[in-house]
Amino acid sequence: MKITTLLGSAKKKGNTAAVLGWVEEELKAQGHDVEQIYLHSKSIKGCMGCGKCRENPDEIACVQDDDAESILKQMIKSDVVLYTSPAYFWGFSAQLKLLIDRSFSLVTNYHQPDHTSLLKGKRIGLLVTGGGTYENNVEGLFTAFDRIAGFLLAEKSGELFVGECSTPDKMPEEKRPWIWPAPWWPESKSIRRIDQDFAQLLQPGRLLK
Ligand SMILES: Cc1cc2nc3c(=O)[nH]c(=O)nc-3n(C[C@H](O)[C@H](O)[C@H](O)COP(=O)(O)O)c2cc1C
Repeated sequence: MKITTLLGSAKKKGNTAAVLGWVEEELKAQGHDVEQIYLHSKSIKGCMGCGKCRENPDEIACVQDDDAESILKQMIKSDVVLYTSPAYFWGFSAQLKLLIDRSFSLVTNYHQPDHTSLLKGKRIGLLVTGGGTYENNVEGLFTAFDRIAGFLLAEKSGELFVGECSTPDKMPEEKRPWIWPAPWWPESKSIRRIDQDFAQLLQPGRLLK
């Protein structure tokens, strides 16, 4: 399967990149074609809300000329898109948020019967690291992702929050077996599985078909 991962942290070797790296290793070992996009290295301007993209539902058709279009095209060509971000001020990193806003150009007629999306039917997942725990912290971020999946007509297929990552660039290797490939998920306030076992998500018929 073709899987695009979006590294939404500025840090190439930070906490988010470390957890994403573990997941990517497993996916590659399973024979999947994984391509990571390091968003911080890309030029992505903020959506202007001009609405020009709405005039052509079959194309991205954004008036801005930067890297967003090629990233969105790669997402359209993928079977699965894994979004990742550090929690920043109870939300997504700016790098990821810029791309999320530009995905406005993929959708037409939101909230109407003829709602369409160039990502319709894709599987999308979210992986977030944060300094705090889940509660009173990142609930809103994960709720937003649910709504984003609905907006994109994509299937939200997995979510993972790894908390208590307060030391920059030092994701402890001890957390790895808790994240992957554990067939179980320990109850822990620092690693929060939401909805499903992330490892299970990557089994046939779940995140991956
Ligand atoms: C500007 C800034 C804002 C942050 N806001 C939050 C937050 O709202 N909630 C949280 O749990 N952690 C927050 N953190 C901590 C980071 O999310 C956490 O350390 C994360 O694992 C960093 O990932 P990275 O190494 O990939 O950058 C913040 C860190 C910074 C620098």
